[in-house]
Amino acid sequence: MKKLFIVANWKSYKTAQEATDWLSEMKKLSFPEDKEVIVCASFTSLPAMKTFIDTNNVSIKLGTEDVSPFGEGAYTGEISAEQAAEFVTHAIVGHSERRNNFAETDQVVAEKVEMAFKFNITPIFCVQGKDTPIPKGIEIVAYEPVFAIGTGHPDTPDDAEDVAKYIKANHEVKYVLYGGSVTADDVHGFTQMPSVDGVLVGGASLDPHKFTQIIQNA
Ligand code: PGA
Repeated sequence: MKKLFIVANWKSYKTAQEATDWLSEMKKLSFPEDKEVIVCASFTSLPAMKTFIDTNNVSIKLGTEDVSPFGEGAYTGEISAEQAAEFVTHAIVGHSERRNNFAETDQVVAEKVEMAFKFNITPIFCVQGKDTPIPKGIEIVAYEPVFAIGTGHPDTPDDAEDVAKYIKANHEVKYVLYGGSVTADDVHGFTQMPSVDGVLVGGASLDPHKFTQIIQNA
């Protein structure tokens, strides 16, 4: 059985209190070993979440939704990969919302990847299509077509398979996930495709019950 990644991207939702309440609901569950669950949350929630996960032995990994392209230094407002690495194992890098709202170029995104690698954070590298440049060393890619994000209109499993296959054929990427309006109802359509190794879930990950259903149905 192939390993599946079920990644939550909470974006700018949830206070630290709401984040730990969500974890309280999830802690009753154990996930089969072939499913790796990673929750990417705001920096403000990560310390409380890490404490909760460590204390309660919850089998969920933590990620950030971004990482600074700079190291420590005079970069007011930035959180460096070294700082993030105290709390997380993964980081989403190059999400379309960052590229579009914060003018992140392929160059900046590649610098972020470098910083993540330097501090042993595994990037979940977002591509918006087959042509998005993928930096060397990336293992996990998330294909997230912009038209499908937050619209309730996911891409088709066949398209996701086509892109995932193309990426694996042309890069040394190990896993390709699909992201964009994934729900409990459509998740299996994606995860059953041979080249698709999991999903990146935004809106439907905010409710612990809906997210649980997604993990179970994947
Ligand atoms: P969505 O977001 O599930 O709300 O469409 C997905 C994403 O941002 O990758």
